[in-house]
Amino acid sequence: LRKAMQVVSSVHDVKAQRRGLRSSVAFVPTMGALHAGHMALVDAAKARCDNITVSIFVNPKQFGTNEDLSHYPRPLSDDLALLESAGVDMVFTPSEADLYPSGFSTQVQVEGLSDVLCGAHRAGHFAGVTTVVGLLFALIRPDVALFGEKDFQQLAIIKRMNQDLQLIDEVIGVPTVRESDGLALSSRNRYLTVQERAIAPALHTALCEVKNRLLHGEATDAVLQGAKEWLLHSGVSRIDYLEIRDSNTLALTDTPQNARAFIAARLGN
Ligand code: PAF
Repeated sequence: LRKAMQVVSSVHDVKAQRRGLRSSVAFVPTMGALHAGHMALVDAAKARCDNITVSIFVNPKQFGTNEDLSHYPRPLSDDLALLESAGVDMVFTPSEADLYPSGFSTQVQVEGLSDVLCGAHRAGHFAGVTTVVGLLFALIRPDVALFGEKDFQQLAIIKRMNQDLQLIDEVIGVPTVRESDGLALSSRNRYLTVQERAIAPALHTALCEVKNRLLHGEATDAVLQGAKEWLLHSGVSRIDYLEIRDSNTLALTDTPQNARAFIAARLGN
């Protein structure tokens, strides 16, 4: 008989629970509003460790002043039901006051990797992510933690933080889960209007086209320029970036070897 899933909401209780655990622990940090992408992280976690711990915390430190903190979706009871049916052992749902008590003054910042791509467009975002993930690693003390490749820069930064600070055994990336039309699953997809939702898969189409043309030896600049024009023509409002970078260092590169195409674009709001 499997033990019922524990929902722990205080820092004090999560530390007490952890002290009592002898099994290997896989950790999946989330901001809730869970979808099949998160559940793929849980499945990958189950293949690795005996105990699966998930956190749900909408982390204010990683939201910019004009971002969606106040209306970020928080369907907690649906999330807990999903995690329970997936066989998760513990869910940590801390409050902001408990995680960041008054006087909290520490920031974890990974230099270099956090300065490019989304780091150049979302001031302070990655320091907010690494601060909360470092803190959650300290509380949960997992053996491994799992993150989606959808946020590939976040994954690279967390891997670097973990390598530098020697926090846990392994940070594992899990492939992006997509809708049948190619749109990557995201808690924020629910913000899209019907018209925007119809345009959104263009991002995936453009990435695939870029990949195919580069693998056929076409010049990077021309391929990227063509893809940007096509995206704007398809109804995307603005492109923050579309670049080819090395998968490990995130340095710009012209060759597709060990590289990824990175895109951030805006649709409506
Ligand atoms: O990817 C996310 O959902 C968040 O950035 C994370 C890793 C849970 C930190 O708040």
